Amino acid sequence: MDVKKVAVIGGGTMGNGIAHVFAMNDISVNLIETKQEFADKAVATIEKNLDRMVKKEKIDEAKKSATMDGISIFLDVEEGVKDVDLVVEAVPENFEIKKTVWEKVDKAAPDHAILGSNTSSISITKLAALTSRPEKFIGMHFFNPVPVMKLVEIVRGLQTDDETYEIVKEASEKLNKVPVPVNDAPGFVSNRVLMPMINEAIFCVGEGVATAEHVDEVMKLGMAHPMGPLRLADFIGLDVCLDILNVLYEGFKDPKYRPAPLLVKMVDAGKLGNKTGEGFYTYD
Ligand code: CAA
Repeated sequence: MDVKKVAVIGGGTMGNGIAHVFAMNDISVNLIETKQEFADKAVATIEKNLDRMVKKEKIDEAKKSATMDGISIFLDVEEGVKDVDLVVEAVPENFEIKKTVWEKVDKAAPDHAILGSNTSSISITKLAALTSRPEKFIGMHFFNPVPVMKLVEIVRGLQTDDETYEIVKEASEKLNKVPVPVNDAPGFVSNRVLMPMINEAIFCVGEGVATAEHVDEVMKLGMAHPMGPLRLADFIGLDVCLDILNVLYEGFKDPKYRPAPLLVKMVDAGKLGNKTGEGFYTYD
């Protein structure tokens, strides 16, 4: 099956980036949000990021307009998914919210539709079991900023079939991304490797080994990371980092994943990184 039309559920940081890359690669998008103001914000962000690409001469004005025209807004999940080949869910990382969404999608999406979740930490097998078609359910894990990062981590749940995997692999390649298959396990591969590094960096700050700036400089200049782990943690969201570490800690029952006390404190204080204006750094 050729994926010609997708529904992207959620227009937040990940959702608007996912809608952006599908529409820019000539796959029409139904972008589904809960309120018009959130949809307007998502569209404004996509436009801003497309403008940035025009400025850098990566695309021209005509491509920008065609991309914007390829995105239709829906405020109703059932309406938005009824005629698509693929659904990509990017709603908040909360099982109850995802459950409500997937139950609606399962009822309304066509029988042939593939169901993909952009979750970074919830079990794909568990989400798939919320639907009547777990063999068509798969993880399609994008990375922020979605228009820039080449990876799509494709997560196969226990019951995901080969046809579903092949369709999603091809669709990811059409986005000029590199799909990498992994099996369902806490944190998949990306966050199982990334989050312990971020956590350890936070322990270093909490124990007074070095300042946040100095920890980041070590990793940028010594290990050629584009961003140090603490700036990256701010960029991802400290609440998201804590949630993922808790998934690893509970999933493996291994103390090596215990969240750093400083991370817990910062989340309790509402210092969540870029999105709240303060984390390890401050932002305008
Ligand atoms: N849309 C389109 N283009 C964008 C963009 C966006 N949202 N954000 C950045 N860009 C482009 C810029 O225009 C620029 O293009 P050129 O190369 O043509 O100049 C390029 O990306 C680099 O951006 P900047 O020059 O503004 O800044 P930079 O060089 O400091 O790079 C960065 C910024 C790409 C974010 C880089 O710092 C980086 O790669 N950081 C690491 C990001 C990362 O690790 N992301 C994964 C997070 S984990 C996750 O998402 C999943 C999870 O489960 C937690």
